[in-house]
Amino acid sequence: MARPSEQFTCQSCGETYRKWQGRCDSCGEWNSLLESTADVAVPSGLTTGKGRNLTFTALNADISDYKRSISHIGELDRVLGGGFVPGSSILIGGDPGIGKSTLLLQAVAKMALAGAPCIYISGEEATQQISMRAQRLGLADAPVQLASANSIRDIITSVDTARPAPKLLVIDSIQTVFADNLPSAPGTVAQVRASAQELIRLARKTGTSVILVGHVTKDGQIAGPRVLEHMVDTVLYFEGDRGHQFRILRAVKNRFGATDEIGVFEMSDAGLKEVANPSSLFISSPDKTISGASVFAGMEGTRPLLVEIQGLVAATAQATPRRAVVGWDNARLAMILAVLDTRCDLSFSGSEVYLNVAGGLRVQEPAADLAVAAALVSSISDIPVPPGSLFFGEIGLSGEVRPVGQTDARLKEAAKLGFTTAIIPTGSKVKSGSMKIIEIEHLREIVSLFSETKPMTRAV
Ligand code: TYD
Ligand code: MG
Repeated sequence: MARPSEQFTCQSCGETYRKWQGRCDSCGEWNSLLESTADVAVPSGLTTGKGRNLTFTALNADISDYKRSISHIGELDRVLGGGFVPGSSILIGGDPGIGKSTLLLQAVAKMALAGAPCIYISGEEATQQISMRAQRLGLADAPVQLASANSIRDIITSVDTARPAPKLLVIDSIQTVFADNLPSAPGTVAQVRASAQELIRLARKTGTSVILVGHVTKDGQIAGPRVLEHMVDTVLYFEGDRGHQFRILRAVKNRFGATDEIGVFEMSDAGLKEVANPSSLFISSPDKTISGASVFAGMEGTRPLLVEIQGLVAATAQATPRRAVVGWDNARLAMILAVLDTRCDLSFSGSEVYLNVAGGLRVQEPAADLAVAAALVSSISDIPVPPGSLFFGEIGLSGEVRPVGQTDARLKEAAKLGFTTAIIPTGSKVKSGSMKIIEIEHLREIVSLFSETKPMTRAV
């Protein structure tokens, strides 16, 4: 039996075990248990000693000098809910090479240029490497205080004594810093948790906003420090497809703003650029007349985003035809194929089905159902979707098409980009606008839209 002082900690979720086992029961990760020394048990009777009296305040306390500082990168500020809240802690996760360091370097440089004292500490790169990048990005003149360090003790001391107190502190990355009084190696749960705790405490004390960069494991979770997500105020994910230029900054937790907000950037040779009109990234041309492509008017947070959905139905002699999906849910595609088969007598059983969301975006809204169905029906019938048209709506198992939220925002964005026809669920609350609206009650109507003998022409 293991000695009582020993325990095994899952490096993925932080769960502890008395004995080693191959798979963590809590998060299902394999081979993630590492031996660590147990936390010292809290002696009972701790609560009997006398503590300090707390000072209570009212909810309407004076917060006039508690102002957010803005990063001057509009997309980042919006995702944060309007800039950095003083004393807040932010965790930013993302795949290696996605551009976290670049984004944060640009943010600190812009803030520093605007007069806010900022500190950037890298545990991964030498200061020369960061300077090199800054010079290439044309940010070398920004008065950022730069250091390369790993010891949490040194970091805390330097930041705490820095005058004037920094508005923003970037730690790149939390996995590289370590506390020398802990026996475990840097990057382990114990180290990451201890270091983060120190930094969060420092942030609250000095009013500095702290950004912690966290690496992400292969399954997309912030490695080890999933425990960190509970400790920090805000969790952001920086995502994107390596093969594509655009990057999306997404808030998954935010104590000071909305969580479904996104920021869109484009990686260029001059660093990350904000994309003011992201819809144009994800649709080719509204007038394209190829069968199998439809445009979905989606929402990402409060922001409408138009994306092209491409479907390809190809005949095959194989007994189990392939179904492949990029950027959408596999199970949802299977559901829509089943509904088309059962409720609309349109069989895909002898065909391979491919579905692709153009531009490398991942669509998660069920509202994309109708656009997916349109792309598939268009492909199987080889009739292009009516030019200038877009789709949104959720499909139920009986084939009924259900209204989705934010109809107006979706339509407005589409109109702005030159779309003229909206094919949407019956009962959608359309306020006004010049768009031609075709209301759909059942998926069958989508099928009959494509069963005309000649391709539909632009509706005017
Ligand atoms: P980086 O910020 O180092 O990623 P992370 O910190 O998330 O690991 O970004 C590195 C990638 O970005 C690298 O593949 C090169 C690319 N990049 C550009 O394309 N243009 C640029 O101006 C910069 C600085 C990086
Ligand atoms: Mg980096």
